[in-house]
Amino acid sequence: MSRKVLIAGNWKMNGLLEDGAALAKEVATEVKKLGKPECEFLVCPPFTLLTTVKKVLRGSKVALGAQDCHVAEKGAHTGDISPVMLKDCGCSYVIVGHSERRADHKESNELICRKAEAAHQAGLKAIICIGETEAERDAGKTIEVCTKQIMGSVPQNATAANTVIAYEPVWAIGTGKTPTTADVEEVHAAVRKVLAKKLGKGNANKMRILYGGSMKPANAAALLALPDVDGGLIGGASLKAADFMAIAASVNKK
Ligand code: 13P
Repeated sequence: MSRKVLIAGNWKMNGLLEDGAALAKEVATEVKKLGKPECEFLVCPPFTLLTTVKKVLRGSKVALGAQDCHVAEKGAHTGDISPVMLKDCGCSYVIVGHSERRADHKESNELICRKAEAAHQAGLKAIICIGETEAERDAGKTIEVCTKQIMGSVPQNATAANTVIAYEPVWAIGTGKTPTTADVEEVHAAVRKVLAKKLGKGNANKMRILYGGSMKPANAAALLALPDVDGGLIGGASLKAADFMAIAASVNKK
């Protein structure tokens, strides 16, 4: 089953206009040099940079995504951004249910599911994040937690065309710690099984499952070579074009 690898940068709450534009330009320039890249590229800047970055990326093979969306199309939701607005400013992807939003904004699986549905409705692809905390891993509950998150936060009508899953162990995010490759493959294979149960085997086999959590040039090749790892959702290392591109360069032919 060939799934095109997705190398996605989640810039989180980083970047002012000037450096955000410069970073996007560097990534676009490097991707252009690849000619026909083996993988797909995506950057997800903060809301304030979307329009600027879109302009910089025009004509390039780098897609634009946002880091969250509201469930409604429009209305009285002060401070929120709708998926229709994201589509309007050039996004094709939106991340939903990142562990930082689950923690900081108490987002539930049910809300994340509605966000993913709203994203689909607006014509966006949803990157739905799941992952266990350190305490959950220590208690041997990783698969159980991820299963529950998938069952609750992936919409019933999700397809490989409109949805990407990102497995991000919470304890690996921004810490420099990563699970062993055997542990990553075990979780990704289990995630695909749960997706098959929920969405059918056809969808599950085609759906991309990204790994996220301290992915760096030094560990990317080993992680991206795993059979059920279909790309990376990269935080810190996506803020340096050289590191982001070095990760992409380690994509093995699948
Ligand atoms: P780091 O790559 O900084 O660990 O972040 C991963 C992440 O949370 C991407 O969404």
